[in-house]
Amino acid sequence: MFANILLAVDGSEHAVRAAKMAGDLARNMKSESLRIVVAFSHIPAYLGEPNMQEAIDARLQEAEKILQNALDEVGKIPGEIKTELIEGSPAEAIINVAATRNSKLIVMGSRGMGSLGSLLLGSTSQSVVSQAPCPVLIVR
Ligand SMILES: Nc1ncnc2c1ncn2[C@@H]1O[C@H](COP(=O)(O)OP(=O)(O)OP(=O)(O)O)[C@@H](O)[C@H]1O
Ligand SMILES: [Mg+2]
Repeated sequence: MFANILLAVDGSEHAVRAAKMAGDLARNMKSESLRIVVAFSHIPAYLGEPNMQEAIDARLQEAEKILQNALDEVGKIPGEIKTELIEGSPAEAIINVAATRNSKLIVMGSRGMGSLGSLLLGSTSQSVVSQAPCPVLIVR
């Protein structure tokens, strides 16, 4: 069960808890793979050079940091760990990766880096729960 797990992280505390749980699940289920996805926002071409390249580099660096932190929280698992940095909408990225990579479970936080702390679910988790091609584990 849950042979391929997709973990979505954005650097938030909820996502850190999701990463810990994804690691525990991957160990307990002896999952074949755990794929960690970080989406970063689109950089508009009108910025022009060198601003555009600088903006891309800054976002990539930030995404790499989030990824590294998630890897630390996941820890060692028996299966393979794969990572994907994707430009664009987080919900779209998560849903597309889950569909194309045949993920059996998506693990993500209930909330993220957004500022509306009173909401039960953020917009990313809400979209993924309603459109995902597989079960979704929302970590609070
Ligand atoms: N850019 C991202 N890349 C990968 N996963 C993400 C990204 N943004 C959010 N997530 C995942 O979705 C979970 C919920 O975040 P979400 O964006 O829904 O909440 P929020 O940021 O509080 O609200 P909103 O973005 O609507 O203001 C996060 O804990 C994380 O697991
Ligand atoms: Mg968000």
